[in-house]
Amino acid sequence: MKIIPFLLFIILAAFAPKTEGNLYQLAGDVVSFLIEITRIQPYLLSLYPAKNRPKEEHFDFIIIGSGPSGSALANRLTENPNVKVLLLESGEEPSLIVDIPIVAGALEFTSYNYNYKSQRQPNFCTGCPNGVLQWPHGNVLGGSSVINYMIYVRGNPADYDKWAALGNPGWSYEDILPYFKKLEDSRVSRSDEAYRGKGGNVAVSDVPWRSGIVDVYVNACTEAGHEYVDYNGRRQLGVSYIQSTTRNGARWHAEKAYLRQARSRKNLKIQVKSRATKILIDPRTKTAYGVEYYYEKKRHVVYAKKEVISSAGSLNSPQLLMLSGVGPKDHLEELGIPVIQDLPVGKKMYDHATFPLIMFQVDKPLVINAVTAALNPFNYIGVLFGKGLFTSIGGVEAITYVKTNISTDPDPLYPDVELLMVGGALNTDFGIIFRKIFNVKPEIYNKIFLPLFTKYVYMVTPVVLHPKSFGWIKLNSSNPWDAPLFYPNYFSDPEDHDVKTFIAAFRELERINSMPSMQKIGSRIVSIPVPGCESHRFDSDEYWACAVRTVIGSYYHQVATCKMGPEGDPEAVVDHKLRVHGVKKLRVVDTSVIPIPPATHNVGPAYAIGEKAADIIKNCYGI
Ligand SMILES: Cc1cc2nc3c(=O)[nH]c(=O)nc-3n(C[C@H](O)[C@H](O)[C@H](O)COP(=O)(O)OP(=O)(O)OC[C@H]3O[C@@H](n4cnc5c(N)ncnc54)[C@H](O)[C@@H]3O)c2cc1C
Ligand SMILES: *[C@@H]1O[C@H](CO)[C@@H](O)[C@H](O)[C@H]1NC(C)=O
Ligand SMILES: *[C@@H]1O[C@H](CO)[C@@H](O)[C@H](O)[C@H]1NC(C)=O
Repeated sequence: MKIIPFLLFIILAAFAPKTEGNLYQLAGDVVSFLIEITRIQPYLLSLYPAKNRPKEEHFDFIIIGSGPSGSALANRLTENPNVKVLLLESGEEPSLIVDIPIVAGALEFTSYNYNYKSQRQPNFCTGCPNGVLQWPHGNVLGGSSVINYMIYVRGNPADYDKWAALGNPGWSYEDILPYFKKLEDSRVSRSDEAYRGKGGNVAVSDVPWRSGIVDVYVNACTEAGHEYVDYNGRRQLGVSYIQSTTRNGARWHAEKAYLRQARSRKNLKIQVKSRATKILIDPRTKTAYGVEYYYEKKRHVVYAKKEVISSAGSLNSPQLLMLSGVGPKDHLEELGIPVIQDLPVGKKMYDHATFPLIMFQVDKPLVINAVTAALNPFNYIGVLFGKGLFTSIGGVEAITYVKTNISTDPDPLYPDVELLMVGGALNTDFGIIFRKIFNVKPEIYNKIFLPLFTKYVYMVTPVVLHPKSFGWIKLNSSNPWDAPLFYPNYFSDPEDHDVKTFIAAFRELERINSMPSMQKIGSRIVSIPVPGCESHRFDSDEYWACAVRTVIGSYYHQVATCKMGPEGDPEAVVDHKLRVHGVKKLRVVDTSVIPIPPATHNVGPAYAIGEKAADIIKNCYGI
């Protein structure tokens, strides 16, 4: 068995540098192709037959997009049998392959992803292929919850209190906590029961499989003074094994959580492969009344008696609003789109950037070995029973929330950094999948990772939770099929807060690495410099500043693209009831309304936003 990884290494090592990554490309394409084949399964056994397109054209509510927010909302609104709802989703229904947690990363390279890229900018990504980032986003029933890494975090109480303080009554922690309890079916071992929910729609569980290194990491964190916590409970600050949106070792996405239960209701129509291209708004009264969409290349129009709700996600809700005449006046005029309401749609886009090249090497085989894992038949059988390595959520194993010594927030329990611990590094899959996810050029990859192919290495990817830099989204044209333009604009804040926070995170990681548990296994930082940064002394602040500007990844938590805020807020697109300012009968219900980047991964808040919006709307109409 041992000989096979060795042979593979020899082959890759021999060819990879010369092929400029073509070999990785090929191997990655094979993996994507194998997953694509499984898309046949929903055709054979469909829960949402696309042929059942509704004959009627009138509904009370039309919801565009079936991500976590849209699915939760569709389910709750149709609890009342008198309320007729149409849910339009541009993607198809997911196949069973997405259930297997270990394939998470590869789903980015299938047709379940819109396959967007970011625009090239000078501040960052000098070592990314063509200077651009992968900018994935789910194009499938269930939205990004179908292709994400299943990390489950609620966020910090202070995040929600800040939303409320910005002029959004009803969104404080006290207001939102009941929705988190309601939505969760939480089965985690380290659990603050008073804060957690049982019996809700979204399954939250521990990951059944753990590598040898994660226990050492968690111990080292506690030795460094990080409390061992339920980070979704009483206190977020501290260390914990990862909690995941899985049940019995299988992915639990929005379709399973909310649509499966509601799909046979007579008052709910769920329509896949139907892409909304325009929200119809009467320009005189500024009232939304319907949606234009395409199904099988044919144009259709449907009408909403009560409301149109955009749940198309933080990248597509702004796109759809702008296509419909709601957006920045000059931008729409420049594209020839008649302006209905001048609003700062897409003007701000915050994201959570992450750095994949801080790694530690150990002497024992405590980390994930992809080859022996792939060759072990138990893993294939085990995953059917919710056991074994394939239940690992893309290798993510533990999380630490840290308040670094450069944080200026007065709240002592408000983290500015997340450390996400993975039981392997970019050498683990020989550059087939994760190299591309984290936007590493082949030349840079080969320099750093070829020497590590036979070594035991794990990484901890830090996340700057409250970046000061922000980017924006624009339309490329008035053509709804044209991808929007995404400008992440990382590391653009004049005070360099984000780079400094990354460096503070690296220092904390080094401190954790110096703890007795880590030292006992000989853990040491991998000191191969990032090409282009060799002129700086390795591990100096200048070195790290160069490194993060060379290679950077995203955890795909874009927010604020349809920011929630009061009437007088020049950045606000929707109010605290998620109604689009100045337009009647139109709401946005998804992560694009989140006003400032929270200390979380966004699927938890996305579900909570859907649940909360359902109550807002029900109260508004007395239904
Ligand atoms: C690769 C990846 C990994 C991630 N990992 C994690 C993680 O581990 N943990 C975590 O908490 N978060 C993670 N996230 C983020 C999280 O999944 C999202 O924040 C969350 O799904 C957002 O929910 P949403 O309801 O706002 O919209 P989305 O999930 O974005 O759903 C929007 C839906 O609208 C549909 N749609 C868009 N435009 C149209 C249109 N014009 N007509 C019809 N339908 C349309 C889309 O197809 C999609 O189904 C990840 C995201 C990605 C992309
Ligand atoms: C923060 O901690 C680092 C080491 O972890 C130290 O070098 C630095 O001086 C500290 N900064 C402040 C402002 O205390
Ligand atoms: C934007 O449109 C131009 C001209 O039609 C095209 O060449 C370019 O590829 C488009 N950009 C994107 C990101 O699709």
